[in-house]
Amino acid sequence: MTALSRIDALIGQMTLAEKLGQLTMTAAGYAVTGPIIAGDSTAAIREGTIGNLLNMVGAEHVHEVQRIAVEESRLGIPLLIGYDVVHGHRTVFPVPIAEAGIFDRQVWEQTARAAAAEAAADGLAMTFAPMLDIARDPRWGRGVEGPGEDPYVGAQFAAAKVRGFQGGQLAAADALAACAKHFCAYGAVTAGRDYAAVDVSVRCLREVYLPPFAAAVAAGVAAVMPAFTDIAGVPMTANRELLAGWLRGRLGFEGVIVTDYNAIAELVRHGVAADLAQAAALALQAGVDIDMMADAYRRGLPVALERGLVSITQIDTAVRRVLTLKSRLGLFTDPYRRGATPESAAAIAAHRLLARQVAARSLVLLTNRNEALPLAADIHDIAVVGPLADSSIDMRGPWWGAAAEVGHVTVLSGLRDALPGARLVHAAGVAVAEPALGGIAAAVAACERAQAVVLCLGESAAMSGEAASRSELGLPGAQRQLAEAVLAWAHSRGVPVIVVLFCGRPLVLPWLFEAADAVLGAWFPGSEAGHAIADILLGQVSPGARLATTWPRALGQVPLFFSQRPGGRPEDPQDHYTSRYMDVANTPQFPFGHGLSYGRFRLDNLRITPARATADDRILVQVDVQNDGARPAEETVFLFVHDRVASVARPILELKGFTKLQLAPGERGTATLALAASALRFVGQDLELVFEPGEVEVLVGSCADAALLLRASLILE
Ligand code: NOJ
Repeated sequence: MTALSRIDALIGQMTLAEKLGQLTMTAAGYAVTGPIIAGDSTAAIREGTIGNLLNMVGAEHVHEVQRIAVEESRLGIPLLIGYDVVHGHRTVFPVPIAEAGIFDRQVWEQTARAAAAEAAADGLAMTFAPMLDIARDPRWGRGVEGPGEDPYVGAQFAAAKVRGFQGGQLAAADALAACAKHFCAYGAVTAGRDYAAVDVSVRCLREVYLPPFAAAVAAGVAAVMPAFTDIAGVPMTANRELLAGWLRGRLGFEGVIVTDYNAIAELVRHGVAADLAQAAALALQAGVDIDMMADAYRRGLPVALERGLVSITQIDTAVRRVLTLKSRLGLFTDPYRRGATPESAAAIAAHRLLARQVAARSLVLLTNRNEALPLAADIHDIAVVGPLADSSIDMRGPWWGAAAEVGHVTVLSGLRDALPGARLVHAAGVAVAEPALGGIAAAVAACERAQAVVLCLGESAAMSGEAASRSELGLPGAQRQLAEAVLAWAHSRGVPVIVVLFCGRPLVLPWLFEAADAVLGAWFPGSEAGHAIADILLGQVSPGARLATTWPRALGQVPLFFSQRPGGRPEDPQDHYTSRYMDVANTPQFPFGHGLSYGRFRLDNLRITPARATADDRILVQVDVQNDGARPAEETVFLFVHDRVASVARPILELKGFTKLQLAPGERGTATLALAASALRFVGQDLELVFEPGEVEVLVGSCADAALLLRASLILE
């Protein structure tokens, strides 16, 4: 008997209540990630009327509920248990926006693999990740969870994460089912306000928001989660056109669609359903299989059946998809395979080491005046100041999986470990988001004998992530007053001030970038934050990360991203009637791809072979890279294109590739980027992909500042 016929036989034995149980996911009450807390579900699991759980961790607990489902329920169907394993589980890796900036597919895959192994050892079989929302408005708090502003990066990130979480074999004891979320265009919420309405064009969906999901499906992602939001009035949880039409129909996605938390019930609030039965019917018809936390399928679908809004065949189809996933995960064969053996000490140590290496690679050196960094080797007196200098809990960022609050290395403890003989003085000065100024004088006094000040500022971890939109993107609380007092004191004595900036989004701080000797963009680096930061500050590692998002200089510039279209009146400072602001330049504080290192790179000799190509050709783009600096360092090379004349106006820069090179002082190397000519197709006027002959400009360089890029011409035939 094949797995599918076994599943069909099982469906044949199921009551309606048991079927709806397989379409229901409820919280186990171990962790709260939304507004509703479910009661005890043990009895329902025993009855077979709850088939899936979220927010339960620990092999012992998981095996106990699995035992109830498998041994005590009538049909013995194992549970599917999911959790938000987004950037680590017990070991926390850098937040995704930081990890995206490493621009290394192997790293993206490795951290997902390690997180999956830890989560599976905790008994889990599914993660609600990767988060693939393209984010271009830093007011929105959830950009921190995803790959940044660019769809090409998003697609590469998606594939790597799916490979990492799922491994080679979904049934393996250390593999998790990945769930690509939030499908789609959640990042385009009005004015950056979480959960607000979305209204983007179909072209924009095809060009920007859908490619990461297409890549996840191509990589074999097991599940997809629709966004809470609507698009042009049609909530994603009930969006037939995009779920049934595009995702299932066009991309051929056969996996499970699981809603976001309580999303089916929220269809009533959206104003597209009068009651739970209608809401449930809309979701089922759109292709949604699992109802997370709304209990709308169990309560609403029986009524919807009576009203003739749905058929039992539609319910069976959804049940089949859920059972197929359970079967692919190996749960029918051995529901206890995950969590059968705890993670070995060696594996835990290896994950911790990986966390340190990846964190160091995710730190972006934003400014470095007069080579203030790395700190001199003989430094022995440092003031470590600011509300984030010694806050373990904030190092985790907003999705910390099952990690404890303590045990994440802070900047203070990282520097202590690195410099055991040094005198390190610490003062918080102010709280992250409180107005009180009382501690500032003591913080300045703590700098008294310091040879350098490491000033740790920014957002707390809770200020980004879900339901964490902000209308001001400055430093919260009284941190600016603290920074100004410390900077004034230090500069009057010639002491350098190195700012370590923690944040889940770009912060608008032109004054700080101007005044500080160096600013290290740390995002939230995870469990090994302090060690990784010390590695960079002290020059053990050269910073190599780049911004996966454009960094604005004024809040009024947002949304700001590099792949804008030129418009008919592109900015011309000499011409008043062009597209610009009266009070701020159009240019960002830092472009996408920005990030300094301890090397000094020069790119030249750009060549393209062949220089004429048809749609089936593969093109090699090569550029020579020289490290003129005194230290070994890593350079990231980006490949952009611009089609000057096309049937649809093309963005001024479109990213088509990236690669990295590690070069010793004085070393010269060649960056080679492969470009498939078919990747130069674009969404034409009829909203289908077209390949148009003509000239395409190829632009190569180390960030998305068009003025700094090398150019060559490619002819498409
Ligand atoms: C709501 C969030 O939007 C989603 O990303 C997450 O997976 C669920 N809650 C479950 O925690």
